[in-house]
Amino acid sequence: MMNVPAFDLKRNYEMLKDELKDAVNRVLESQRFILGEEVEGFEREVASYLGVSNALGCASGTDALLLSLMALGIREGDEVITTPYTFFATASVVSRLGARPVFVDIDPVTYNIDIDKIYDHITPKTKAVIVVHLFGHMAQVEKIEGLLRDKRIYLIEDCAQSFGAWRKIDDDIRYCGTIGTFGCFSFYPTKNLGGYGDGGLVTTNDDYLADRIRKLRVHGLCGEYVHEELGMNSRLDAIQAAILRCRLPHVDEWNKQRRIIAERYRILFDTYGISEFVKSPHEDTDGYHVFHQYVVRCDKRDELMKYLTENGVGTRVYYPLPLHLQPAFSSLGYKMGDFPQAEALSKNSLSLPMYPELLPEEQEYVVDTMAKFYRSN
Ligand SMILES: Cc1ncc(COP(=O)(O)O)c(C=O)c1O
Repeated sequence: MMNVPAFDLKRNYEMLKDELKDAVNRVLESQRFILGEEVEGFEREVASYLGVSNALGCASGTDALLLSLMALGIREGDEVITTPYTFFATASVVSRLGARPVFVDIDPVTYNIDIDKIYDHITPKTKAVIVVHLFGHMAQVEKIEGLLRDKRIYLIEDCAQSFGAWRKIDDDIRYCGTIGTFGCFSFYPTKNLGGYGDGGLVTTNDDYLADRIRKLRVHGLCGEYVHEELGMNSRLDAIQAAILRCRLPHVDEWNKQRRIIAERYRILFDTYGISEFVKSPHEDTDGYHVFHQYVVRCDKRDELMKYLTENGVGTRVYYPLPLHLQPAFSSLGYKMGDFPQAEALSKNSLSLPMYPELLPEEQEYVVDTMAKFYRSN
C-alpha cells in the first residue's frame, strides 16, 4: 500500500532548506522582528508581482479581512454580501464588527459566489461584497465591479486561496487582489504562497485606504503613543516576511506544477473510466486557476473517502457545513434549503491530494484506488 497524504510540506522545505535558513538567520542577526526592512521588502516585492500600488502585511488572512472592513468603517446596521461556501473567517469578520453577513448561493459550476445573483440582494444597508476566489479559481469580479462602484458598495476580494490566480480582462492579465477596493491574502502554511506560521496581506490601489490599514494594524497609532482610533495589533512578523521573500520567486513554478497535476488527474479519471462518477473542477477559459485545492464532485463521497483513507490516501472535505448552517451564525435566521447549491456541494465534494511535489505515480495510485472503489460499489 502506498501512503499519499493530503498535504506534505516537508518535500517543499527540503528543496529550499538552505535558502530558508539563511533568511531566518538574517532576521536573527538584525534583531529586528516587528515590521522593519524585511517586511517592507516583502511588501514591495509582492506589490510588484501582483501589479498593485500597496501591499501591507498583517498577522493573518482573517485579520486582512477584518482590517479591510474596519478601514471602510463597516459597523452595526451594515450588510455585507458574501458566499456561504467558504472558510468561516470570510463571514465571521463581518459579524465581529456587528454587521450582518448576507449570503448569496454559489454557481454550481465554478463553486464561487453566483455573481449574477448578487444584484438581487443589494439593499440600502449593503456596504460591501466579499467575493472569495475559492480553491484557487478567480471569480469573474469584473462583471460586478462597475455596478458596485456606481452604487458606492465596496468590493473586497478574499484571495486567501488564490495567490497568483488571474483573469484576462480587456486583454490585460489581472491578478486577483488588484480589482476590488481591497485584496486579502493568507500565508497559512498550506496556501499556494505559505509561510511557516500565520501571516496575511492587504492589497489596495487606494493610497488613502492603504494609510488607514497601516494605522489600524498598529492600534490606530498616528504619532508616538498617540492613538487616533481603536485599531489592532496585527503585523506580519519579520521572520515570516523573510521566509515569504524566499518563497515568492518560486510561486509561479509551483502554481504551474499544480496545474500540471490538475490536468493529470483529469486525464487519469478518463483513463481509469471513472469520469461518470467523478467530476473534475471547472476552469474558465479566460482564467488561470492555481488549484489551491483539487476539489471534485463525486458519487458516494463519504464511502469513497473512507475507502481512500483505509488505503493510505489522505483527502479532505471543504466544506462539510456551509456557513448559513453553522451554529455561530444561527442568529442570522437561515435554514436548511436556503442555499441549495452550496448544500449540494457540501455533500458531494472531495479534495484530493494536491501540492506541487505530488508525484505522477502517487496520483496514479490515488485514481487507481478510486477506480477500485467504484468497480466494487
Ligand atoms: C477563503 C479563506 N478566507 C480567509 C481565510 C483566513 O486566513 P487565515 O487562516 O490566515 O486567518 C482562509 C484560511 O484558511 C480562507 O481559506
